[in-house]
Amino acid sequence: MLTSVRLARDPLGLFRSLAAEGPLVPLRVGPFKALVVTDPELAGELLADDRTYDKGGALYDRIRELTGDGLVSCPHRQHRRQRRLLQPAFSRARIAGYTEVVSGRAAAVALAWREGRPVDPLAEMLALTTGSLVETMFAGELTERQIVLAVADYGTVLDGLYVRAVLPRVPARIPVAANRRYRRAGARLRATLAGVVAERRRSGWTAGNDLLSALLAPGESGGAGFGDRELCDQLVTFLVAGSETTAVALAWAIHFLAADRELQRRVQAEVDGRGLDGRAIGGADLARLPLTRNTVLEALRYYPPGWLFSRVTMRATVLGGQAVPAGRTLLYSPYLVHHRPESYPDPERFDPDRWASEARHRPPRSAFLAFGAGARSCIGEQLGLAEAVLVLATLAAHWEWTELPDSDATPVAAVSLRPKRLRVRPTARVRGVVPAAQP
Ligand code: HEM
Repeated sequence: MLTSVRLARDPLGLFRSLAAEGPLVPLRVGPFKALVVTDPELAGELLADDRTYDKGGALYDRIRELTGDGLVSCPHRQHRRQRRLLQPAFSRARIAGYTEVVSGRAAAVALAWREGRPVDPLAEMLALTTGSLVETMFAGELTERQIVLAVADYGTVLDGLYVRAVLPRVPARIPVAANRRYRRAGARLRATLAGVVAERRRSGWTAGNDLLSALLAPGESGGAGFGDRELCDQLVTFLVAGSETTAVALAWAIHFLAADRELQRRVQAEVDGRGLDGRAIGGADLARLPLTRNTVLEALRYYPPGWLFSRVTMRATVLGGQAVPAGRTLLYSPYLVHHRPESYPDPERFDPDRWASEARHRPPRSAFLAFGAGARSCIGEQLGLAEAVLVLATLAAHWEWTELPDSDATPVAAVSLRPKRLRVRPTARVRGVVPAAQP
């Protein structure tokens, strides 16, 4: 079968099969040529040298249209300065503040579910993670209504981004309705965020627990380091990089718990056993929820939300003994690496216990690429993990859930690796807080 047909029909199968062909495999689809790094050690080498293997390729070109040169898409020459300025916003103390926002929003979602009423976990988790991120980034500047609008614009932009990352540039220029919606939503989102930055500069308020305060507080990053446009680029970047990824991880974790009732009961027992009632699960409880955390890690292994990333060589080089010319696109796939039996025995089995501290063969750190690796690894790793564990624990404290017959958990490999159409039916638990209508 032609590679282009396989790529369209079964991209995950295609990438998994490449592992048998060697550590560095050429991929050709029409005029597009790339080298796929299939070996975890070699992927580690690629990610360790971000000067030679810089950000580039179709996905990053599209993301850059939206995020400018924010942290996720900027070239190597801008990266170290940006990362240094942004790192304090992700300190332990700051993350503890952000997780308070997440716990409140997670409890609100759990309390809004109703006995027997079908839930679309991906849609709910997207609204939750985006809302949490907007609030943690600039609490106070936007009203709840503006947050809802920003979340809707962000959804439109994200859907459009999927299409544009896989299609050539030209269709994006055709002024069809979807294109206009995409552009308008992108422009409005940027304008909203630019307004937030301008207002904060004007007021000079930096005392909050939010990310923007962290970036502007004297003695931390020193907001003087970023101009207004750059700050706006960073806020858009965090929205794009932080909300879809965490929501998709949560949707998969919810699916895997629905598929394995025994595991779901064990997670519920862990939450109950710690005396957590669901309303009050917060950052300090995270260390007491190892199985919940391992379930999130295993969901991230099994279906990593970012399943494929690109780099472009800035100079001619040699990788795995093979000469690679300058300007060549290289692809690394966390999904492919996470399904290699050498690193993960029985890789098609969903097994959170492989991450347990007492497990005999804990997976090697180098073979876990859900958050990337090296200098360009995820700055939001601790925040994303904390958020996912808190939300899953909160849901498990309140509810049991099963998957409905019309639910379809087929993975769809677009920009992220989403489930096709998940539907679950919640049942209130005997233990934990039985949700009542809130005044
Ligand atoms: C479960 C949730 C998350 C997953 C799976 C995830 C995954 C990733 C991956 C794989 C990369 C590296 C991409 C590459 O190598 O090309 C990355 C980078 C990044 N992520 Fe995340 N991410 C998550 C949550 C977050 C959150 C919550 C934020 C921010 C609020 C965030 C912000 C970023 C940024 C800014 C970068 C670029 C870092 C740099 O280049 O220095 N991510 N993420």
